[in-house]
Amino acid sequence: MATVTYEKATRVYPGTERPAVDALDLHIEDGEFLVLVGPSGCGKSTSLRMLAGLEDVNSGRILIGDRDVTDVQPKDRDIAMVFQNYALYPHMTVADNMGFALKIAGTPKADIRQRVEEAAKILDLTQYLDRKPKALSGGQRQRVAMGRAIVRQPQVFLMDEPLSNLDAKLRVQTRTQIASLQRRLGVTTVYVTHDQTEALTMGDRIAVLKDGLLQQVGTPRDMYDTPANVFVAGFIGSPAMNIGTFDIVEGVATVGSAGIAVTRDALGQLAADDKNQITIGFRPESLDVVPEGTPNAIPVVVNIVEELGSDAYVYGSLAGNAAAADVTSGAGDSQVIVRVGPRQVPAKGETIWVTIRTGEQHLFHPGSGLRIDA
Ligand SMILES: Nc1ncnc2c1ncn2[C@@H]1O[C@H](COP(=O)(O)OP(=O)(O)OP(=O)(O)O)[C@@H](O)[C@H]1O
Ligand SMILES: [Mg+2]
Repeated sequence: MATVTYEKATRVYPGTERPAVDALDLHIEDGEFLVLVGPSGCGKSTSLRMLAGLEDVNSGRILIGDRDVTDVQPKDRDIAMVFQNYALYPHMTVADNMGFALKIAGTPKADIRQRVEEAAKILDLTQYLDRKPKALSGGQRQRVAMGRAIVRQPQVFLMDEPLSNLDAKLRVQTRTQIASLQRRLGVTTVYVTHDQTEALTMGDRIAVLKDGLLQQVGTPRDMYDTPANVFVAGFIGSPAMNIGTFDIVEGVATVGSAGIAVTRDALGQLAADDKNQITIGFRPESLDVVPEGTPNAIPVVVNIVEELGSDAYVYGSLAGNAAAADVTSGAGDSQVIVRVGPRQVPAKGETIWVTIRTGEQHLFHPGSGLRIDA
């Protein structure tokens, strides 16, 4: 087992100008489950492939443990990779698929058999060892792909969207299995997904990438409680955080007829390029529905209500003086999302009043997008 360290690791693909991964600095602890997450094209696979040795590092370096592997051949890095398209050999049995890399490496037959059987036991595949992949379900095939990585007993597991070929229910099941398996084996793991829920549920820590740049690294709790910038705030959490930029009038962030109190300390941190405005984020679950007339309540006109049984979400727009602010959900649509109790669901067209629970608002610089801690 080993740590993994990216030091200003940069990848510029031939014929392109902007780095696909730009000076990535990231240290992963021994035994840690780190999830790389971000939107399509942000550089997740490139980061992983640089670590695997499948992609050149144009500047910076990568270490596994204390060893600089930047120029080491993929086969000599002691890593095992599980891809999205896990491509099992169709003509080989499950056992042969799992043991293939060991066979190539010249491992004695008896050792291969023993390691394959151990892995099969862990993965609940013992009864399928003599089958061909086509006679397996999607989830079972996915486990064979995991088995293929496990038998190699590598220092680091690399996984690139290994669950994307599975249906929704199996994905949820398998993600818990992979997470608990990783904890049991204690092998340092770098896991790529574009799904923030997968990231939050599986990772010890999460690294969020955007446009090849690392935005923030932290525990799922850190990302949820203290997103470092507007992008992370809007990306992590489901449904997404509501985010708006407001004018500051006499020290108060104003939303139509409502005002959101902002501390003097926060206002004092605003810079010239914030242009006397402040960006405020508030999660759907951080809003309380209050009676009309409650001081500083924000009026929201209900457009639709999504009832999920345990919760209900109101998708609405700000009532009244719309010019004052455009609050949108971080998901990119122009709706304000409010979580309401399933037994007090408002009707479409109705206006509800909400306040942001104390301490649950997130403040950002409109200029740089960076978090303001106050
Ligand atoms: N071989 C290549 N040549 C040129 N550009 C590439 C190459 N491979 C990837 N890119 C570009 O590098 C950027 C990062 O790609 P990468 O595959 O790492 O993204 P990703 O985060 O894994 O996305 P996805 O979630 O869609 O898999 C993208 O803009 C992509 O178009
Ligand atoms: Mg990818």
